[in-house]
Amino acid sequence: MTSIVESQVPALHVSGLGFHAGGVQILADVDIDVPRGAFVGIIGPNGAGKTTFLNLLSGLLIPSAGAIELEGRNLAGTAPSQRSQFGLGRTFQTSSIFGALSVFENARLSAQARFGGSAKFWRRPRPLDEASVAARDALTMVGLAEMAERPSGALSHGDKRKLELAILVAAEAKILLLDEPMAGVNSEDVPMLTELIGRLHGEGRTVLMVEHHMAVVVGLADTITVFDSGRLLAMGDPQTVIANVDVQRAYLGQPL
Ligand SMILES: Nc1ncnc2c1ncn2[C@@H]1O[C@H](COP(=O)(O)OP(=O)(O)OP(=O)(O)O)[C@@H](O)[C@H]1O
Ligand SMILES: [Mg+2]
Repeated sequence: MTSIVESQVPALHVSGLGFHAGGVQILADVDIDVPRGAFVGIIGPNGAGKTTFLNLLSGLLIPSAGAIELEGRNLAGTAPSQRSQFGLGRTFQTSSIFGALSVFENARLSAQARFGGSAKFWRRPRPLDEASVAARDALTMVGLAEMAERPSGALSHGDKRKLELAILVAAEAKILLLDEPMAGVNSEDVPMLTELIGRLHGEGRTVLMVEHHMAVVVGLADTITVFDSGRLLAMGDPQTVIANVDVQRAYLGQPL
């Protein structure tokens, strides 16, 4: 049984997070608690530091200040691959699938990496066929089962985005970091992808999603955080944040 104390541990606890590069402060003083099962939308003007924030969470960048805890575990010094073993899954602003591999192989590699990729002797490697089952289940979940044998490079942008989500499902990611999942997607595919991301969240996953498409953010997120010039400008429920005068000012010249 999960104790009350354990269930109150947030999925992510970020305190005093900062990052500078070449003497330039890119991100400063970011404090966020993300409860388990939350859906946090991250918005902000171009260059505000949103992707940098996700890079710090996933371990692609090393913070200059502050700390990140994943379900109570301090992530300092842990590599991106370890973080994904802990349940953190990441998609990128531009597609990151292996275009030469089939849709199925992309999903299976992800399932295999989660268990078979571990060098830890006490963890039983996931057999290939078990990884295959996990991969097929993930493809079915996102609606790509029929396309399993196609080269993934030949998929439409919308289907590539679906495959990226299937890769996270196959990896059994519990906390999804999505960087602009609607970028490059045809407008007809936006409702389908929105519904899919909502379903992944509805199954109990925690989601942090950077997205410029405001209707999508407002439709999915229970909390919106706004980054501006490397700082957290506002955080709260969608309606309150959108009505915030500082937020509107930060977006001057850009559609909110
Ligand atoms: N490693 C780095 N070294 C130097 N500058 C960087 C580095 N990473 C990011 N930057 C700069 O930091 C700022 C924030 O970039 P970031 O990509 O996080 O913004 P963003 O909010 O994701 O923007 P967009 O909406 O355009 O994707 C930008 O000015 C960028 O040029
Ligand atoms: Mg970005």
